[in-house]
Amino acid sequence: MPKYRNSLNVDPNDKDPMISRRSFLALVGVGACLLGAAQMVNVSFLGFLYPNAMKVPPSVFSLGRPEEVLGRDGKVFNPKQKVFIETLSGKVRVQTAVCTHLGCTVNMVETGYACPCHGSTYDRHGRNTGGPAPSPLVYFHVFKGASGDIMVDKSKTTLDWEEAWYTG
Ligand code: FES
Repeated sequence: MPKYRNSLNVDPNDKDPMISRRSFLALVGVGACLLGAAQMVNVSFLGFLYPNAMKVPPSVFSLGRPEEVLGRDGKVFNPKQKVFIETLSGKVRVQTAVCTHLGCTVNMVETGYACPCHGSTYDRHGRNTGGPAPSPLVYFHVFKGASGDIMVDKSKTTLDWEEAWYTG
């Protein structure tokens, strides 16, 4: 009568069971697969615990104290927020630097802005003048925050470059 063998290839009646090499390797393989699956579940789960919002800049951000922001004239690029901050005679306005075609960052040029990706151009007010860009570069709402800082809300936009000035 053939000996009964279970999945581990071990005789259950044997008082000194020995696991075969094949069974041992099978167990190690299954264990490795389970460990890998657990790692994948763990990584996805951690992704839910630390949402993407932590990586994306908030839509409202501070430009700084009024005396710091409004005290100098000129236009500077803020790479973190991808905006141009323009100050003139105690006023400030903030314009997106994100190309309306596919989202590359535009560069300031003599005539306005130019996108290095596919050649879109904008005039100095941000109106699209050439290339595949379908719409102008918007301005963001600028306001005084509760802390006294000058704040920018990127969720509120305008295309009116005169209305976009914040005068304090
Ligand atoms: S992303 Fe700017 S032209 Fe295409």
